[in-house]
Amino acid sequence: MSSSGREASSSPEASPEELHSFVCDLARQVGELQLSRYEEPGEIKEKGPKDLVTEVDLLAEEFLISRISERYPDDAILSEERGGEISPTGHTWLLDPVDGTANFARANPLFCVCISVVEGDEVKHAAVAAPRLGDVYHARLGGGAFRDAASGETQPLRVAKTEDLEHSFVGADVSYRGSSDPRKNGTLEVFKRCWQVRSIGSAGIRGAWLAAGYLDVSIGTRNTAWDYAPTALLVSEAGGCVSNLTGAPWTYDSDGLLATNNEDLHTEVLEILASG
Ligand code: IPD
Ligand code: CA
Ligand code: CA
Repeated sequence: MSSSGREASSSPEASPEELHSFVCDLARQVGELQLSRYEEPGEIKEKGPKDLVTEVDLLAEEFLISRISERYPDDAILSEERGGEISPTGHTWLLDPVDGTANFARANPLFCVCISVVEGDEVKHAAVAAPRLGDVYHARLGGGAFRDAASGETQPLRVAKTEDLEHSFVGADVSYRGSSDPRKNGTLEVFKRCWQVRSIGSAGIRGAWLAAGYLDVSIGTRNTAWDYAPTALLVSEAGGCVSNLTGAPWTYDSDGLLATNNEDLHTEVLEILASG
């Protein structure tokens, strides 16, 4: 114990198991907070064009930051609404207090909280709690990916076995930044060549659903690390592939993320994106 009586526990000293269960518990608690305000999002502001923030986003963020700072005071935090920095040396927490805010704001049940712990280029821990689905999806680097269901059952996550784009379900919430968006034609071509498109309004749930085998391809076209870090870890731990939209490793600065269930499908989609 430190002289202040608080446990001196920066996350590099915490065991991976302890840290992982803290991440999962935190995600569950924020999910409960979201549920307690379902259909009561409070004031809704447009923080940017077609970009919403509700009172619950801010409350959930405050809760997350205070719990993490209390337990792991030396760690860096980068959170969607408050910002922050990625630590060059230690652990950084990437937080999306409500992912799918536009859904949450109109009581659509597809929303979640996304929490990741990253170090260097690696996403070490991630949890996505989707409380209206009753699911907490979580993964630890090298330790596998899992779903804790509302029943209390924990199941390992495994990507689907779909082999090609023609038979694939593709998940994407693509908002083109004007007609000159360089990726517009490539992504539209992927949509045309797949079996079905799913647009669910939550990058966190989309990534978790790929890891769970409900989707075969996930395309994200933004550079919001808090949205994509859980997908990067959940999908790779569930046996799938992850890169940026040109096939290079996904990093926190990447301008988009591609996740698929196997390498051949990944190459097929990358080729179509490049030709667009
Ligand atoms: C958004 C959702 C949406 C995706 C956007 C994200 P937010 O997150 O994940 O599915 O298309 O790119 O910004 O704003 O609800 O946290
Ligand atoms: Ca988000
Ligand atoms: Ca958000």
